Amino acid sequence: MSTEAKLPGLGIFRNWLSLFGLLMASCSILAFCVLMAMDLLSGEANPYSGIVAFLVLPGILAMGLGLIGFGLILERRKMRRTSGGTPPPVLSLDFSNPRVRRNLIIAVNATLLVFMVTAIMLYHGYHFTESVAFCGRVCHTVMEPEYTTYQNSPHARLKCAECHIGSGASWYVKSKLSGLRQVVAVARNSFSRPIETPVKNLRPAQDTCEQCHWPSKFTGNLDRTITRYLADETNTPYSIRLLLKVGGGDPAQGPVGGIHSHINIGSKIEYIATDDRRQVIPWVRRTDLEGVVTEYSAPGFKLDPAKHVIRRMDCIDCHNRPSHIFRSPAESVDMSLSLGKLDPAMPRLKKNAVEILTAPYATAEEAQDKIAATLTSRYPGDPRLPAAIAEIRKIYGENFFPEMKTNWKTHPSNLGHMESPGCFRCHDGEHKSGDGKLSIKADECNICHIIVAQGQGEQLEKLSAKGHAFEHPGGELDDTKCSECHTGGPQ
Ligand code: HEC
Ligand code: HEC
Ligand code: HEC
Ligand code: HEC
Ligand code: HEC
Ligand code: HEC
Repeated sequence: MSTEAKLPGLGIFRNWLSLFGLLMASCSILAFCVLMAMDLLSGEANPYSGIVAFLVLPGILAMGLGLIGFGLILERRKMRRTSGGTPPPVLSLDFSNPRVRRNLIIAVNATLLVFMVTAIMLYHGYHFTESVAFCGRVCHTVMEPEYTTYQNSPHARLKCAECHIGSGASWYVKSKLSGLRQVVAVARNSFSRPIETPVKNLRPAQDTCEQCHWPSKFTGNLDRTITRYLADETNTPYSIRLLLKVGGGDPAQGPVGGIHSHINIGSKIEYIATDDRRQVIPWVRRTDLEGVVTEYSAPGFKLDPAKHVIRRMDCIDCHNRPSHIFRSPAESVDMSLSLGKLDPAMPRLKKNAVEILTAPYATAEEAQDKIAATLTSRYPGDPRLPAAIAEIRKIYGENFFPEMKTNWKTHPSNLGHMESPGCFRCHDGEHKSGDGKLSIKADECNICHIIVAQGQGEQLEKLSAKGHAFEHPGGELDDTKCSECHTGGPQ
């Protein structure tokens, strides 16, 4: 019996399975090092090289190592058979033999290398599956609406995982399991278009949003000017300067009243929504700081605990679009006009732009072509035309995703009340408590904001500390909800 046989590791070179395994393992390690180097040099995370480096190569490495082991077992069996039933020699290492010493050093180093590479793969693999590149760009078509809007949002530098998964192992595992289901849905092309919203199993905001924005931070007011344009010949501007009462998160830091009193640490608001989108809310229950419970219901609603799911209100019930903001045609055109990216001097531009953006298109490509064609036909020879085409195409690209049937209508924002019911889902004056004494106030526009100034030009210099009554450019207001006329599209 030669000394080589006494060092069973060297059976690798005699069994083709083991040899093949060794080849696989070494190639995957080599490829991994090359990819890592490329990743470091290019500086930009590429989702596909990530998938190869952190998901495919570790798989090949594991298979390679498995084959080496399997081959060795086969080799030992063969040795037993060829040696006529005598058991193969037990491992005995003769350190005086330089060959044994050399082989042993090689074996130990190879094992260390495999351990090191595996550790790096696992560490980076974990981070990779949490990365924006992985979540947003791997299933490109499916995630395009959310990924594009995310990039234009105030949270563009957060990782998707910071809102969708948060910290801790159990949510990591949950998210990977749901990720697997999503992969299957993509493979079978059975995913829903648009992706359903609200997200049913979203992690509670306490564990995500509140890690960065904790409720006691909400004090004081926010001064915000919104400039709108009428759909008339001259695109008449109309600005509203609002003082939004965003306080109320913590009685120790400021007054209890205010917008963020809903999520006050000591009080609680719960509600029932009767539709999937949480847009119809006929029942609300509030437990205030003293523990006094008040229930409000819309006319005709009867609570049936067996049929209804009660949800506790958190950040997401108002901020359902902190990152994926699909702006309406009206809102985005107004924004571009106010920033001068669209020229308000172009006659009827507000009306035309909104109409063109709202027209039905089957694909984004078709939309981009038709936007140019329609605008050209309406403003032939106008020197401002190229800039207008570019801007309206950009608005379309950032907010409309026909392939995924996604736009502002499928994903409305709950943050205001102008283009979707939002706050007025509850604050509509129709929700009454049992004894009829309390109702969620709506006739009082001033509970959420005061209008410091409104109008255009010099009118905007007439400030009111008490708040102006709203002068509606569209005429006298009745009880109709704003969003019933202001749909975000053409009026
Ligand atoms: C600032 C936090 C935040 C970040 C960052 C974020 N999301 Fe979201 N995401 C949300 C919230 C909130 C919702 C909607 C929850 C609801 O209404 O139930 C949502 C919804 C979604 C939906 C469901 C469809 C929809 O629009 O409602 C998808 C898909 C999604 N996000 C993917 C992503 C991807 C991919 C990234 C990273 C590129 C990302 N998100 C980053 C907070 C975030
Ligand atoms: C990892 C930290 C982090 C997390 C998690 C986070 N945010 Fe933010 N958020 C920020 C930063 C940073 C800003 C931008 C700075 C600023 O405007 O104050 C911001 C801004 C905002 C704004 C102001 C946007 C504006 O237009 O001015 C809102 C509203 C907001 N976040 C809501 C949320 C909600 C809701 C969630 C949970 C879904 C959330 N954030 C999760 C860090 C975070
Ligand atoms: C009965 C339908 C109707 C209702 C309800 C309504 N509006 Fe209007 N609104 C109009 C019309 C029509 C115009 C003029 C549109 C134009 O000429 O472009 C208008 C114009 C405006 C404008 C000027 C800029 C623009 O977008 O045209 C603002 C701002 C506005 N409304 C806010 C509100 C608010 C806030 C509410 C709810 C409190 C509300 N409206 C309710 C029909 C309505
Ligand atoms: C009742 C609805 C509602 C709830 C619930 C709510 N917010 Fe707000 N929040 C608002 C409104 C409205 C504004 C002002 C919107 C604007 O920017 O015009 C606002 C503003 C903010 C801002 C910007 C404030 C500033 O001073 O710049 C942040 C950040 C924020 N909210 C985070 C949160 C977080 C985190 C939660 C959950 C702990 C939360 N909000 C719960 C309605 C709500
Ligand atoms: C699920 C129902 C619900 C929704 C949606 C909702 N609220 Fe409320 N809100 C309540 C209840 C209940 C109260 C407490 C009762 C009261 O003060 O009349 C309240 C109280 C308030 C208060 C305090 C009033 C005071 O007297 O101090 C403000 C401000 C407010 N809400 C603003 C908003 C804004 C802004 C939005 C939309 C972004 C909104 N709410 C959405 C249920 C809701
Ligand atoms: C429950 C809280 C609440 C009540 C009540 C309320 N608003 Fe608002 N309002 C908001 C919020 C939140 C916004 C969104 C601010 C933003 O977009 O930053 C808003 C926005 C507006 C805007 C600007 C809309 C735009 O996008 O051009 C107008 C105008 C307005 N409100 C008028 C009114 C009038 C008039 C009433 C009374 C009939 C009223 N609001 C009652 C919360 C409220």
